Formats: sequence, structure tokens, C-alpha cells
Amino acid sequence: MASAKPRSAAAPWTAKVLTLFPAMFPGPLAHSLAGKALDGGLWNLRTVDIRQGSSHKHASVDDTPFGGGPGMVMRPDVVDAAIEAAGTGPAGERGEAWPLIYLTPRGHPINQARVRALAEGDGVTLLCGRYEGIDERVIEAWEPEEVSMGDLVLSGGEAAAIALIDACVRLLPGVLGSAQSPEDESFEGGLLEYPHYTRPREWRGHKVPEILLSGHHEKVQAWRRTQAEKVTKARRPDLWVEYEATRK
Ligand code: ADE
Repeated sequence: MASAKPRSAAAPWTAKVLTLFPAMFPGPLAHSLAGKALDGGLWNLRTVDIRQGSSHKHASVDDTPFGGGPGMVMRPDVVDAAIEAAGTGPAGERGEAWPLIYLTPRGHPINQARVRALAEGDGVTLLCGRYEGIDERVIEAWEPEEVSMGDLVLSGGEAAAIALIDACVRLLPGVLGSAQSPEDESFEGGLLEYPHYTRPREWRGHKVPEILLSGHHEKVQAWRRTQAEKVTKARRPDLWVEYEATRK
């Protein structure tokens, strides 16, 4: 798996997306934080139309699976030509400039640590599958990092790519305001995040926990940690086991 190297100063962090549906981008990434950062040149987005990137413009991009069964499979020659055209670096070169990631429910579940490493690199090339997936031979040839957004099946990798780009972009320097540091949020320190409250102090008979109104910073911090531990233990025993192990 190609690791993400520390970012070089010159070019902004770049997401290259190989897709049969380039019109799905930037999609939601044009709005809010990521959209503002895109407009401000803090990151770049390139789409590569898998259909156009191949010499098979007039041929189909998919075919029936050998061995039978439902659905269609994306052809290896078509996908290969698109990866070759896009490259895995800023200028379209091949090699290890940044990771090539194939979004698939068969991949390793992504986590915040991997997102952080990707955001610290120069960028990513994201390969979005459709139909039943991509012919295995092109995966063996390019050895992309296979990444899943979780145990659910999307209709294609595009929604997963959008989620992954969003998660990376918000960690880029200058994207979050200084008041919105990601240090306290879920998965930082191995815990889910503590609960939040704002005005009004009482809503439908439910009061804001007294400690949060005390102005006592250390007690607030301690309460938040206890809450974060409680929710992590209840909802994510997998994270809790790791957290306990690293505390010892
Ligand atoms: N494509 C379809 N389902 C997916 C998932 N769960 N994660 C990543 N890519 C996908």
C-alpha cells in the first residue's frame, strides 16, 4: 500500500477521481467548508471520465461476468487505460507520487488515522467502480489500496469518494477555522466524541448538564472525557478494547 508522503509546498492537495459519472463531482463538495476551500485554491479536484480515458470510446465499458451470474463487470482494458491516463501524481505520471485507492465494499474499512495520513500527503487518485465491480486482473496489475466506507453496499464508488474527499479536505491547513480544531472530535484519542449542548438552557423540560454551566474548565474536561468513554464503551466495544489497551 502506498503511504501518503508529507505534502510538498508547491501544489495544493489534489483529488483525482476516475469515474463513469464525472457530473457527480464536485456535487456536495461544492458547498460548505470543502466548497469554500475549493474556490479558495486550498485543494484541487480533477475528474477523469473512465469512458473517455480509454481507446474504447465507442465500445462498452462493462461486460457480463465469466462464470455467469447477475450484473456486469467493468472491463480491465478500459479501467487500465483510465488509470494510465490519470496517473497517480500531480502531472499524470505513474508511480508512487500518491496512493491509488479503489473504493469497494471489499476493501479495508477506512478510519480517521488513514484519512489523516492521506490529508498529509499530496493527494489521492480515487477509482470508482460501478455495477458488480472491476475485473480482478486490473486490480492485481495496479495493486490499489482497496478501501470501504463500511459494511453497506452503495450503487457505486462515487458517494464513497465524495465522503473520503470531504474527510481529507476538512483536515487540510486553513480549511477549518482555528476555533474548529479537529482535536476533540470522534476517533481522536481513540474515543467517540462527548455530547454537545447549546442554548436554550432548558428545552422541553430537559436541562443542560449543570457542570457545563459551571465555568470550571478542568471539571468540564473531566466530565467530557467520562462521557466520551461511556459512549465509546456502549457503542464501539472494538474501539474501547483498543483504548483500554493503549491506556495501560
Ligand atoms: N462501493 C459500493 N459500496 C461501497 C462501500 N461500502 N465502500 C466503498 N465503495 C463502495
